[in-house]
Amino acid sequence: MGLLLPVVLCALAACCGATSPPLPPLRFWPPIARGCNDSGILELAGFALQDINRDRKDGYVLSLNRVSDVREHRQASDSPLLGSLFYFTLDVLETDCHVLSRKAWKDCGVRTLHESVYGQCKALFYVNRPGRVLYVLAYNCTLRPVSQRSSHTMCPDCPGPFKLSNPKVLETAAESLAKYNKESASKQYSLFQVTRASGQWVFGFAFFVEYLIKESPCTKHQASSCALQPPDSVPVGLCKGTLTERELQKFVSVTCDFFEPQVPAPGGENPAANQGPADLPTVEESQQKIIAPTNSPSKAVPKGSVQYLPDLDDEKKPEDAQENSPVEPFPVQLELTTDPLGESLDVSFLFLDPEEKKVVVLPFPKKEQRSAECPGPAQQANPLVLPP
Ligand SMILES: *[C@@H]1O[C@H](CO)[C@@H](O)[C@H](O)[C@H]1NC(C)=O
Ligand SMILES: *[C@@H]1O[C@H](CO)[C@@H](O)[C@H](O)[C@H]1NC(C)=O
Repeated sequence: MGLLLPVVLCALAACCGATSPPLPPLRFWPPIARGCNDSGILELAGFALQDINRDRKDGYVLSLNRVSDVREHRQASDSPLLGSLFYFTLDVLETDCHVLSRKAWKDCGVRTLHESVYGQCKALFYVNRPGRVLYVLAYNCTLRPVSQRSSHTMCPDCPGPFKLSNPKVLETAAESLAKYNKESASKQYSLFQVTRASGQWVFGFAFFVEYLIKESPCTKHQASSCALQPPDSVPVGLCKGTLTERELQKFVSVTCDFFEPQVPAPGGENPAANQGPADLPTVEESQQKIIAPTNSPSKAVPKGSVQYLPDLDDEKKPEDAQENSPVEPFPVQLELTTDPLGESLDVSFLFLDPEEKKVVVLPFPKKEQRSAECPGPAQQANPLVLPP
């Protein structure tokens, strides 16, 4: 972990120090549009998304497809040490890792086109190099599944999404988990929640489900006679199960990935140490060290939310007949203030020293004024997974 810090600081130096033009001696500078393909910006966007993923309790880890817009608001004040607030608009893709796995998004696989879920996040990201702080103050995201009509045209045989309430979905989860439990040496697991489901017809029906599992208090030998209830059932892993039905025969397969324990066992491997430079050790440390009784009632609540909307095609049904009022395809609201002069926000809880620190938050900048270098190049450039 000690090695990661210089990497973080070098990245910040590259982005905010070396290339910054000299600033006029004003008390209040307007936000500056930054280039969406600058290496320093890309690095910061990666950290911001990592912090968003860490904050979330459900859904899949989001990966960065491209930076759609970024403004840097240098915090002018009597103290030069306040750093910058970045207003990020990020185009994202769902990966195949559950957020509870705590995996870094760079270590997760993106989904194939017909299974893609994509969207946009807005994030208010606070960067303070001297204080070693990289911290998302607030975020909001909106996601949609890829257009089924378009992806079905491109791949008619690819699996299509299923409603989680479909009885076949539950059957696939139950049968594949039963198979897992049967092959397990002792520990038994039960279904916590189905998180994804799809199906496909290839000489028979195939169902694919993903679900969270919790540990059952019963061992294998107690089996069905065991009626113990787990005291607090937290999901411990994500399973992928399939059920194929062909000429009255059933084939079941299953694989499960277990999440790293949140608190590493003594002498065990520290999961945080494996996450590479995308880890945010400095922020984590300061968050853990400071349990401020006075100024952080907000720490317990999530810093944002992820909204899931249906397939864009389903929303544009002609019967709505509202051609004149176009739907905002990815509405993401992130307004901490509507005051054009901004409001000050106390960020003292991010620092170890007791001095009060406040930053100025402005209304989220409008897309129209973004840099000509935005949006940046996309990892997945297919227009079907890029918010307009
Ligand atoms: C985030 O989005 C939700 C609606 O999805 C909204 O109620 C909330 O105010 C937004 N947060 C901010 C800070 O704007
Ligand atoms: C983005 O930056 C990379 C590396 O700096 C460069 O190779 C690439 O051409 C740039 N792409 C665009 C679209 O500007």
